[in-house]
Amino acid sequence: MFKNIVLAFVGLTGLVAAAPTSIQQRALTDAYRTYTGDGTAAAGWPDSAAWGEFEGLWSANLPLIRQSCGWNGWGADNSADEISHIKKAITQVSSETGVKSRFILLIMMQESKGCVRVPTTNNGVVNPGLLQSHNGSGTCAGVNPCPQSQIVQMIRDGVAGTSSGHGLKQLIAQTTAHYGSIQPAAYYAAARLYNSGSVDYSNLGNGFTSVACYASDIANRATGWTLAQSSCH
Ligand SMILES: *[C@@H]1O[C@H](CO)[C@@H](O)[C@H](O)[C@H]1NC(C)=O
Repeated sequence: MFKNIVLAFVGLTGLVAAAPTSIQQRALTDAYRTYTGDGTAAAGWPDSAAWGEFEGLWSANLPLIRQSCGWNGWGADNSADEISHIKKAITQVSSETGVKSRFILLIMMQESKGCVRVPTTNNGVVNPGLLQSHNGSGTCAGVNPCPQSQIVQMIRDGVAGTSSGHGLKQLIAQTTAHYGSIQPAAYYAAARLYNSGSVDYSNLGNGFTSVACYASDIANRATGWTLAQSSCH
């Protein structure tokens, strides 16, 4: 979080022919629509009925999780064990914190593409691990194999927060209080806060000094976007 650059995910369009689409209650589409405005369905953002379920979103992202380390030059691709530990860690930390597992997955794909060996970034605050947490202790940068304990720690740092800063849990509480109820806009606004530390509730495309497309990206990931060309600038 609090970063001025988005981790590059270059040259990947077209490398994966198709994501598995079976066993999904909601149709997921690998397409990108740029969303602007306040994050509400009235402004065109996907409401909760349009979001994929965790299992469907996991299946759609699995081909990326299998190859994202190599694609990005971050070391060996995730092993089958590491991938299984990522899925378990998301489910475990979701039950510990009450944050929806699919939201954790979407933020993980946005922050690290699901590569356990993602490098630590530092734009004033150190952001390590799968969720590029706020000065968390979990990281497997340069470490192979990545132990299960570190995978859980990386997810927990980003979701439960650290002694240095908020995680998704605190940010969702903050945005839910703003809206008066939990609703998709609260998730999109929390995504904005996770990335930039500030939110303009009337314009989630305001990235302050961070990534303007971040909240729009999360909305697209929620409906199945993985590798299609982004139209957001
Ligand atoms: C990061 O965490 C370390 C260890 O907990 C702490 O000493 C340091 O002050 C923290 N840095 C920031 C910028 O919060």
